[in-house]
Amino acid sequence: MADALLPWTEKYRPKRLADVAGQENNMRTLEAFAQKKDMPNLLFAGPPGVGKTTATLALAHELYGNELEGKILELNASDERGIDIVRGKIKDFARSVSLRDIPFKIVFLDEADALTPEAQHALRRTMEIYSGQTRFILSCNYSSKIIEPIQSRCAIFRFVPLKEADVRKMLEKVAASEKLDVGKDAFDAIFYVSEGDMRKAINMLQGASIHSKKITPDVVYKISARARPKEIREMADLALKGSFTAAREKLNVLMMEYGLSGEDVILQLYREVANLDIPEKRKIYLVDRIGEYNFRLVEGANERIQVEALLAQMGVVGRE
Ligand SMILES: Nc1ncnc2c1ncn2[C@@H]1O[C@H](COP(=O)(O)OP(=O)(O)OP(=O)(O)O)[C@@H](O)[C@H]1O
Ligand SMILES: [Mg+2]
Repeated sequence: MADALLPWTEKYRPKRLADVAGQENNMRTLEAFAQKKDMPNLLFAGPPGVGKTTATLALAHELYGNELEGKILELNASDERGIDIVRGKIKDFARSVSLRDIPFKIVFLDEADALTPEAQHALRRTMEIYSGQTRFILSCNYSSKIIEPIQSRCAIFRFVPLKEADVRKMLEKVAASEKLDVGKDAFDAIFYVSEGDMRKAINMLQGASIHSKKITPDVVYKISARARPKEIREMADLALKGSFTAAREKLNVLMMEYGLSGEDVILQLYREVANLDIPEKRKIYLVDRIGEYNFRLVEGANERIQVEALLAQMGVVGRE
């Protein structure tokens, strides 16, 4: 594919470990593996879009250089039709040996936490059978969903949401190369909606750039179905001072115009609690209430009623 047609997340995916943003300790250890040309099985755990696949590809690149072809097998645990297929593919891959200075190939299994415990036990045996010719890199969102025997066979790497400075640096690089005009408030908006997910941040920038080369916070909030934090705070302030009807009108705008779901509103409210001008004790109570209403939503209660009930509760918190 021509570079211009690639999604920016692919176009700007770092090729070398040194260029991966954040995750410093992890990258240092992976670099040492690459230098020694040796590594154990690895388990990468962490939220989406923070560099797990990127680090795997970069590590493979540093290990094999131009001879990467055929050295890494990428599998996705959730779209294969079961562990038997995965095992079959691993078997074929491990068999076709053509290794020179590095005596192992890499099997990268994405979304390993989607495998049932039974399938994981089968995988564990497969890991053992081919331990001579292969190293496994398992990627997951939650390491707690990986069975103990696999965890104990892997070096575990925790990937964390990216810091503001790291996201900004990458966005600045992309913006410069794509000749975009991105002001500080637009960067702030993208970081706010990305929540430290670099994939989301870059996609947001690409999505916003379709409207204009000049990126504004307005566009960012619009395409992300997020409200400006300021508007959430305004709604919260109204609710806290007992202006229920006005808070409800504000809610209307957020849900109808921005297309926020009830859960979106509650999550954003949660993120604003720290910034509200109320005593600590009330914040604690409020977080407890937010937890309760979030639970009701997840259980399938009517979202409009629940969010309004939360606003009504906030009036009670505000009066105390
Ligand atoms: N740490 C990072 N440094 C630079 N770019 C990154 C980083 N993390 C993610 N990206 C960007 O986001 C895209 C997606 O990242 P990646 O595929 O590594 O996510 P992941 O952690 O594997 O997520 P998932 O759990 O969804 O598989 C990359 O193509 C890259 O453009
Ligand atoms: Mg991935």
